Amino acid sequence: MTQKTKLVPVTREPALLPERDADKSPVLECIDLGITFGGLKAVDSFNITIGRTEIAGLIGPNGAGKTTIFNLLTKVYQPTHGTILLNGRDIHGLNTAQINRAGIARTFQNIRLFQNLSVEENITTAMDTQMHYNMAEGILRLPRFWREERVVHERAMELLSIFHMEEFADAKAGSLPYGAQRRLEILRALATNPCLLLLDEPAAGMNPSETAELMENIRSIRDTFKIAVLLIEHDMNLVMNICEGIAVLNFGRIIAKGSPDDIQNNPEVIEAYLGKKKEA
Ligand SMILES: Nc1ncnc2c1ncn2[C@@H]1O[C@H](COP(=O)(O)OP(=O)(O)O)[C@@H](O)[C@H]1O
Ligand SMILES: [Mg+2]
Repeated sequence: MTQKTKLVPVTREPALLPERDADKSPVLECIDLGITFGGLKAVDSFNITIGRTEIAGLIGPNGAGKTTIFNLLTKVYQPTHGTILLNGRDIHGLNTAQINRAGIARTFQNIRLFQNLSVEENITTAMDTQMHYNMAEGILRLPRFWREERVVHERAMELLSIFHMEEFADAKAGSLPYGAQRRLEILRALATNPCLLLLDEPAAGMNPSETAELMENIRSIRDTFKIAVLLIEHDMNLVMNICEGIAVLNFGRIIAKGSPDDIQNNPEVIEAYLGKKKEA
């Protein structure tokens, strides 16, 4: 009897793709992903499939391994085991910059902006890899430089308009209120033209009206750019309202995966994370 060799020697779980993505190949697949720090299995047996235009959520208590997963996806850390497929391609050999060019952009749990650059510059520096004038054309300010500068400026203003932030284009990023800095980080990530946007606690420190607005904006970003979003968030109202698929992480392992309804009714999740239900 002949046996077929499989490229990925792991049975994949059925994907939780939203209906709209069911006929398309997923943007991201993690298969048996894991990393160990010293003796600690920070992430273990992490399997997830994300649809091409899905908003997916990653939730779990502090220290569960959520940010570590973002660091694995962006190659800040090399996995101890497992496979990551981005658009069906194994990203094993890519570094952080190459991953970004391949389509994954992220924001950080702690804001990382160029505080002393303007709001617009924070966005345009992220677009740098897409500019085509050479250094001489730039130094001599030849026509192609101006054309591209104009295109870059217009694109930055277009991105700023998503959050109605055009009027702050010239302000120093560090002078913006906290919520606006978080929004700018999202725009800077979008400026790299991702197919998958990773948001690490985007609503942290935002007031309820900012959070509500952010929720609408994440949805409209997905609809406008037709991209996938994976977000880590503690605000359950936000998560349950905008995520189509949710994975719950506890001590580095997925303890539940499913729709918001599945998650909210899963006894293990209620016990481990959402807090035991009070008797009525
Ligand atoms: N570079 C590292 N070295 C050692 N331990 C780490 C490192 N990064 C994360 N960890 C540990 O991995 C676990 C998961 O951390 P993290 O992914 O930041 O959790 P979360 O984002 O869910 O709060 C924690 O116990 C943390 O201390
Ligand atoms: Mg974290």
